[in-house]
Amino acid sequence: LKHLLTIEQLSNEQIMELINLAEKFKIADQKGEHQKVKQQTFVANLFFETSTRTHKSFEVAEKKLGLETINLNAISSAVQKGESLYDTVLTMDAIGMDAVVIRHSQVEYYQELVASKTINLSIINGGDGSGEHPTQSLLDLMTIYEEFHHFEGLKVAIVGDLKHSRVARSNMKILKRLGADIYFAGPQEWYIAKEFNQFGQFIDLDTMIDQLDVVMFLRVQLERHDPTEFEQISFLEKYGLSNERYAKLKDKAIVMHPCPVNRDVEMGSATIEAPKSRLVAQMANGVFMRMAILKTIFKDKF
Ligand code: CP
Repeated sequence: LKHLLTIEQLSNEQIMELINLAEKFKIADQKGEHQKVKQQTFVANLFFETSTRTHKSFEVAEKKLGLETINLNAISSAVQKGESLYDTVLTMDAIGMDAVVIRHSQVEYYQELVASKTINLSIINGGDGSGEHPTQSLLDLMTIYEEFHHFEGLKVAIVGDLKHSRVARSNMKILKRLGADIYFAGPQEWYIAKEFNQFGQFIDLDTMIDQLDVVMFLRVQLERHDPTEFEQISFLEKYGLSNERYAKLKDKAIVMHPCPVNRDVEMGSATIEAPKSRLVAQMANGVFMRMAILKTIFKDKF
């Protein structure tokens, strides 16, 4: 694996290999065992959009593997002088980075970077605008697999701000390919039928809440909505995980959310750490999945 740009670039076999490797890292970590890179290898984390989980779990993963971590702060870098993403990555390559993890607001920002004949480093997509979030998708798949040990036939609902969500885009594509049945719910105006119909069907969550295996809520991207038109309280009642909806879930159902959560908007506060919630497990799995991705990219260096 040279770059990780989209979830669809991975075969089902590669996905299972990454899940199995991440599980091995998780078990080894519990025993205090750490596999370290054998030669000096540099990874730069370039986050041009805010992030807590993706940025910091990559940093932890890099340190656990003995990689040299460089964090580029977009505020204090030459990006503030107008330097482009391309020139920033060209610089990272020139100063000896072996890989960069990039989050950027531009959908498919990576196209010009991978087309470059000068840039040789590996690119890991930490989120491209409303495009894709492949490393989140992989940690979500790991979390689902830990629970059910398969994907085929699982009933998965993706709920909420579908229109703006890169997590929804990655997950609907890969879960459909892995054989899950996908349902979408939330405000109908955020459902783009032309784009999403090929992956699943739009439902009223209340008609299926007691049949779902996985209910995946999405962050309402408040920064992209007109606050005068968006009522946070009524969102929970209409579309979110209220205590009443939580009580209707199947015994073995799980609840997911990529986080950060708008508490009492997508999910009621009492449901966030409730027994069926896997939000904390998702965050913890993020470190081990990112270790698996880095080890796969740098396989010749271990
Ligand atoms: N899930 C996720 O991408 O969170 P961050 O924005 O904090 O990285």
